[in-house]
Amino acid sequence: WFCVILLCSDIVHMASYAPLFVNDNDRKWTPDAIVFNSWQQYGTPSYWMQTFFGESSGAVIHPVRLNSSYSGSLAASAITWRDNEDIFLRIKIVNFGPNTVNLTLSATGLEAGVDTSRSAVTVLTSNYSLDENSFDDPLKVKPVKSGLASAAEEMQAMLVPYSFTSYDLALDEYGELVADM
Ligand SMILES: *[C@@H]1O[C@H](CO)[C@@H](O)[C@H](O)[C@H]1NC(C)=O
Ligand SMILES: *[C@@H]1O[C@H](CO)[C@@H](O)[C@H](O)[C@H]1NC(C)=O
Ligand SMILES: *[C@@H]1O[C@H](CO)[C@@H](O)[C@H](O)[C@H]1NC(C)=O
Repeated sequence: WFCVILLCSDIVHMASYAPLFVNDNDRKWTPDAIVFNSWQQYGTPSYWMQTFFGESSGAVIHPVRLNSSYSGSLAASAITWRDNEDIFLRIKIVNFGPNTVNLTLSATGLEAGVDTSRSAVTVLTSNYSLDENSFDDPLKVKPVKSGLASAAEEMQAMLVPYSFTSYDLALDEYGELVADM
């Protein structure tokens, strides 16, 4: 049982990551976000992880309660954010344990319907937890986005081992307005 309560709020102002760039010929620190040499570059898994936080700027944070026997290996957060005219509820969950975890995601207090056609789920994971990207295989570990036909205030979620999952639920705040026209 997992609960997102859309009542109190806080605003995110910025997110950053350091060190952002590393020259492949002079690696002093790991993990870095972007690896480059004189003619090519790629994003590390940490880089892809950060792309999920880009929209957090100006977003509203909502409290999350995790109720699962696997709570010790899960971390979750929820925000609502605006993408042009669209409003999304984004629930991000990290499963840093070795087990597949099934959860019921339940958002309470949503004052808008969920539009399944514009909702999506994006998963960042790999078959082996030590997999890395490289110049030879720059997209070995990358986010994979798919449609979320099951998007609803309450829905089933399956979190694979060692994964980061982002559920983006499109809220039809303008549903009634469109119906009136
Ligand atoms: C947590 O889950 C257990 C087992 O499903 C349930 O009995 C309990 O009521 C839940 N607690 C909350 C706060 O949702
Ligand atoms: C999780 O759900 C999937 C699909 O419903 C099912 O195949 C799988 O056995 C479940 N796994 C666990 C650990 O409950
Ligand atoms: C992960 O394993 C699956 C099934 O064995 C395979 O098809 C896929 O290519 C593997 N992915 C990577 C990134 O190695």
